[in-house]
Amino acid sequence: MRQGPDASSARCTAPLDWGTPRPPLPGVRRVEPDVTRAARARAANAEEMSGPNTNYDPVEVSALDPEQVETAVEEALAAIAAATSLDDLKAARIEHQGEKSALALANREIGALPPSAKAEAGKRVGQARGRVGAALSARQAELEAERDERILVEERVDVTVPVVRSPFGARHPIELVSQRLVDAFVGMGWEVAEGPELEAEWLNFDALNLGPDHPARQMQDTFFLDPVDSGLVLRTHTSPVQIRTMLEREPPIYIVAPGKVYRTDDLDATHTPVFHQIECLAVDKGLTMAHLRGAIDAFVQIMFGEGTQTRVRASYFPFTEPSMETDFVCFACHGDPGPDGCRTCGGSGWIELGGSGMVNRKVLRACGIDPDVYSGFAFGLGIERALMLRHGVQGMHDMVEGDVRFSRQFGREV
Ligand code: PHE
Repeated sequence: MRQGPDASSARCTAPLDWGTPRPPLPGVRRVEPDVTRAARARAANAEEMSGPNTNYDPVEVSALDPEQVETAVEEALAAIAAATSLDDLKAARIEHQGEKSALALANREIGALPPSAKAEAGKRVGQARGRVGAALSARQAELEAERDERILVEERVDVTVPVVRSPFGARHPIELVSQRLVDAFVGMGWEVAEGPELEAEWLNFDALNLGPDHPARQMQDTFFLDPVDSGLVLRTHTSPVQIRTMLEREPPIYIVAPGKVYRTDDLDATHTPVFHQIECLAVDKGLTMAHLRGAIDAFVQIMFGEGTQTRVRASYFPFTEPSMETDFVCFACHGDPGPDGCRTCGGSGWIELGGSGMVNRKVLRACGIDPDVYSGFAFGLGIERALMLRHGVQGMHDMVEGDVRFSRQFGREV
């Protein structure tokens, strides 16, 4: 690119004296320093020259051509004027003022000119760069002012608007789902029945045909109240509400009883000492297991969706005869777990819902109802378990700890 002779090589007449080279050490290759090679090259060049170049006529590279410099300035000014954002302007700055810009290139070429030509070219390029720099600063100031104005409008905060200081709570999904089931049964003509959580041992066990030796009465399952002969327990299920209702009222009876129950389990991923059950009891003339299955189907469809199938398996509860476990078809795999299995139902295609059966004749009799005239059915289940299954809740801790963030996820409807 450069066309004039190099001023520094013109001054240089001989290679630098680096002294006598030391003999190389055995096994060591001697490397000649680059500086020596460069000095020799300059010396060779100098020999071809006639002497210092005094009235040299500079032929400038095209980057320094006045027209080209002017074009570069005009292009830069146009790009700067066209920038409508600070990002645009940054791009224009890099292109027209950056290291690779036409003017930076021109500026670098000045260094290669002979002294006599440097001043004029320097002035031309300097002024050009000055114009571009000034235009950049002016546009920068304009765009910053525009941005500040926009932020002031966009991020305006009305500090006079009243705020809600107490955060909103949320209804617990257990409460929501209980109410939804209760509402559905009330809609079918059933009534809501309640009983105390601190219950008479007789109602919780004896009247339900759970004799004194029944394993559920053992210390490890039931919270008994002091003194030992108080006859009071924290109810272990909602079934004593059946007894209370039958003692108080004449059939026909159709009740749904939601509520808290207690068992001496430690809190872990699947257990909690306090949980919720919901229980349905019907006592009427001519009730059969077909009615029981119909009621269970209605219940399951409310909880797990229309068309959810159920099945019953023989089981044992002292207060129902015959007794059954009720399962419903897995809502995740719809009864078809496939070769990979199903994490929700464990691969069986069915999920256990709870216990059920025809009310034991002994229980009807204990409540003053003639079992030859009336028959009844009952079923009950744990709400936490059903909810955990339905929503894939991993641990019981989330269910019971009362963190509002957990409850909020369920919204207002479960
Ligand atoms: N009370 C029983 C339990 O807690 C469930 C059940 C209710 C069984 C009604 C039959 C009828 O396990």
